Amino acid sequence: MKMETPYQNHIDKADFDHVYEPAEDSFLLIDALEKDLEYLKAKNPTFCLEVGSGSGVVITALGMAFPGALCLSTDINFKACVMSKATATYNKVVLDAVNMDLATAFTDKKFDIIIFNPPYVVTESEECGGTDITASWAGGVKGREVTDRLLSLIPKKLADNGTFYLLLIEDNIPSEVVGIMAKYGFRHDIVVTRRVRNELQRVLKFHR
Ligand SMILES: C[S@@+](CC[C@H](N)C(=O)[O-])C[C@H]1O[C@@H](n2cnc3c(N)ncnc32)[C@H](O)[C@@H]1O
Repeated sequence: MKMETPYQNHIDKADFDHVYEPAEDSFLLIDALEKDLEYLKAKNPTFCLEVGSGSGVVITALGMAFPGALCLSTDINFKACVMSKATATYNKVVLDAVNMDLATAFTDKKFDIIIFNPPYVVTESEECGGTDITASWAGGVKGREVTDRLLSLIPKKLADNGTFYLLLIEDNIPSEVVGIMAKYGFRHDIVVTRRVRNELQRVLKFHR
């Protein structure tokens, strides 16, 4: 089964000075969801969340594949939330795009699908934690400072039968992430892997 790539004709190129422009990693995440479409359909997801939605192409693609599901997105960058909402609307997907850190303000919600293409570039810790375009890439130590904070939330935010998709590169030491999630009781699979210039990108999925 195929997933559709959302139209992005509504976006002014200049807006990508402030919001992450969809790139190979964004489309690898969509490819991973497409590969798992049958698996996900069988679970009949109701609540879907993308953390750090940027332009909104990934959560919009998911919303197009699951028109009956309620889609939410978050981003620390307010301009990204505005763009995500616009991308969803342009593609006739209903999306609540919320400006927040990770998923911390969703206190009582459990999601069937959570997706995250994090800021994964290794940087100084001081560079990490901004709310502008730097938040798109600056990942701090091991490129994992933001990711690791989300990992600790997953046991509370993911429904028992839910699936969490996470994009990582080699610098992030995926084996350590697998170990952290195993301690929380999650199994993992590698859904897709692709070399993009000097980066080996992969999407892992975690489930109980
Ligand atoms: C690599 S970009 C991915 C954007 C989009 N999901 C895509 O795949 O094209 C990472 C996104 O995470 C957002 N982000 C970074 N730290 C965050 C945090 N603490 N909470 C929510 N979003 C965050 C950034 O603003 C950026 O939009």
